[in-house]
Amino acid sequence: RSIVILISGRGSNMEAIVRAAQAEQWPAKIAAVISNRADASGLAFAAQRGIPTAVIPSRDYSTREQFDSALRDKIDTFAPDLVVLAGFMRILTAPFVEHYQGRMLNIHPSLLPSFPGLATHRQALAAGVKLHGATVHFVTPDLDHGPIVAQAAVPVQEEDSEEALAERVLEQEHVIYPRAVRWFIDGRLRLDGHRVRLATAS
Ligand code: GRF
Repeated sequence: RSIVILISGRGSNMEAIVRAAQAEQWPAKIAAVISNRADASGLAFAAQRGIPTAVIPSRDYSTREQFDSALRDKIDTFAPDLVVLAGFMRILTAPFVEHYQGRMLNIHPSLLPSFPGLATHRQALAAGVKLHGATVHFVTPDLDHGPIVAQAAVPVQEEDSEEALAERVLEQEHVIYPRAVRWFIDGRLRLDGHRVRLATAS
């Protein structure tokens, strides 16, 4: 089995997945890490681990459709079973998303359906919620609203800063994302219409 991971920046979630795949000897390889930005610092980690990397610079394309089709062509050269969005900061067109229906996961730094979109930690602090967290979901054309696979909650502390809260959430992202990807690789996780099916471990 093979996985393609898409990043835009730091790539710490990608790193957590790569580390888990190696440490737990998953029956899958990370076929490539692809970024829409040449300056994504996560590319260096992937290259160091001998993982093929590619950059499809979004700024070189004048329309979303053109970018998405170039990205899709690149991804499909690796024929992945699963596409993992890990801090990939692009809104994807419906045809692109539909092409990977049931085989594309994303992580979002909030307890969805609360706080879709950007600046989720700021949104959570402004709303005064006592619990915040992260969500792994299947990607559907409805941004940040795909069927939920896994969530982790963290407490919001009094006097929390956006940065402190983000760090607490990120730590949990690094736990739940590798786990969810592994479920998929092990054939336990699938999308059935709009329902997530997770089989118990055999
Ligand atoms: C993570 O918080 C992810 O949930 C969000 O952007 C951040 C990316 O971090 N979408 P990294 O690139 O994985 O380090």
